[in-house]
Amino acid sequence: MNILLIGSGGREHALAWAISASPLCDKLFIAPGNPGTAQCGENVVLDIADHRAVADFCKLMGVGLVVVGPEGPLVEGIVDDLEAAGIKSFGPSRAAAQLEGSKAFTKELCAEFGIPTAAFARFTDEAAAKAYVAKTGAPLVIKADGLAAGKGVIMAETIEQANDALAMMFSGGLGAAGAEVVIEEWMVGEEASFFALCDGTHALPLASAQDHKRAFDGDTGPNTGGMGAYSPAPVMTKAMEEQVMAEIVRPTLAGMNQRGTPFKGVLFAGLMITADGPKLIEYNTRFGDPECEVLMPRLKSDLVPALLAARDGVLNAVDLRWSDEVALTVVMAAKGYPGTPEKGSVIKGIDKAAAAKDVLVFHAGTQANGEEIVANGGRVLNVVALGRSVSEAQAKAYAAVDLIDWPGGFCRRDIGWQAVKREREG
Ligand code: AMP
Ligand code: GLY
Repeated sequence: MNILLIGSGGREHALAWAISASPLCDKLFIAPGNPGTAQCGENVVLDIADHRAVADFCKLMGVGLVVVGPEGPLVEGIVDDLEAAGIKSFGPSRAAAQLEGSKAFTKELCAEFGIPTAAFARFTDEAAAKAYVAKTGAPLVIKADGLAAGKGVIMAETIEQANDALAMMFSGGLGAAGAEVVIEEWMVGEEASFFALCDGTHALPLASAQDHKRAFDGDTGPNTGGMGAYSPAPVMTKAMEEQVMAEIVRPTLAGMNQRGTPFKGVLFAGLMITADGPKLIEYNTRFGDPECEVLMPRLKSDLVPALLAARDGVLNAVDLRWSDEVALTVVMAAKGYPGTPEKGSVIKGIDKAAAAKDVLVFHAGTQANGEEIVANGGRVLNVVALGRSVSEAQAKAYAAVDLIDWPGGFCRRDIGWQAVKREREG
C-alpha cells in the first residue's frame, strides 16, 4: 500500500522511519517532510491546507492511507475531508480534535463523565473572571481556550499575576485563542504523558513518556515545544497505567461516542500524578513531539496494521509489543529558540552520530543545501538513544550529541535528570 504522511517535524521523521519499515508499505510520501524523512520515502510539495489537492494527490498516486502528524490540519478537518473523498485517513475528525482544540470542551467532557481533572471555571468576560479570582484566591492556572502554540497557559502564583494574565488574554494578547479563558485549580505532583491508540470504541495503551518543556538546564528559561523526552516514565507503574486507562482514557472514548463524535487516532493525555492519583491536565489528539521520537524506537511491532485497525474500528484485534529498554531523546535547537531561531548555520557530523550503537538521529527543522545540512527552524535535530536504564540511554545520547559539530545550535545537558536521580537513589 502507498501511504502519505503529513508533517515536517521530528515526530514525522520518527513516524516515517517506523512506517517505511513495514512490509505493508510499498511507497511512502511525506508532505512536506524534511531531509530526514527523505531517507525513508519521497518528500512531496503539497498545500496541506488545500484538502481537495491532497485528496487529488492521493487518488493519482494510489495512496491507501493518510497519516496526519500535527494538530493544525486535524483541527482544520483534513480527516473529514479526505474520508469524504474516499481516502482512508488516520487521525481524529474535526469534531473529535476539539479534545485538543478547545480546553473548555475537554473540561466540560471531564465534568460530564466524571474524569479526574483540576477544578475549573470558564469565562468570556474579564470582570467576571477577575471576580472569580478574587473569590478563589491564588495560586491558579489561567488558560486561553484555543490553540496558542504552547503560550496559552499561565501559572499564576498571586492574584495580581492572575489578573495580569486575564487582562492580556482578554485584550487580544493571544488573538482569538484568548476570547474564552479557563481558570483552573493548580494541581501539585509529577507530570507524565500517556499515549493510547483509539478506534472510536476501543483504546489500546501505547506507552508513557516524560518531557522537558523549559529551554535551559535545571528546567529554567522559557517554555518550548519540548527540549527532550524519555520513555517509559518511571512514575507510571503498570497499575497506574491501568488506572489511567480505566478512569481517564476509556471514559473519554465512551463520552465522545455518546456525544456522536467518536475519537479515532492517538490520544495523548498530559497527566499530573497527584496524591489522589492521576489527573488529566490536558489532551492532545496526536503523537507528541519529541515524545514520538522515543515511542517509535521502543515499538517492536509493525505500526502500520495498528494505524489501519484504528482507522477501521478493529483495534481490539491488535496487540503491540514494546521493548523494555528506555529511549531518551535530546533535542538540538538553533540558537535563539524559542524566540527567533538563527537559520542557515551548517551542521556537521550527523552521520557519525547516527552510526553510533543504539542511536538514531531524527531531523526536524533542517534543510539540505547541496551536500550540506543547515538549520531551518527552532528545534532542528533529535538525538535518540536506547539503554537499559535512563542513565545509560542518557549517556549514549550525549555521547552521540558530542559527535555533532554545530556551533549554531544548543541543547540541554540534563535531559532525564529526575529519572537519573531516582535511579541513583535506587
Ligand atoms: P497545558 O498546555 O494545559 O498542558 O499546560 C502546560 C503546562 O502547564 C503543563 O504541562 C503543566 O506543567 C502546567 N499546568 C497546566 N494546567 C495545570 C494545572 N491545573 N495545575 C498545575 N499545572 C498545570
Ligand atoms: N511535546 C509536547 C507536544 O507535542 O505537545
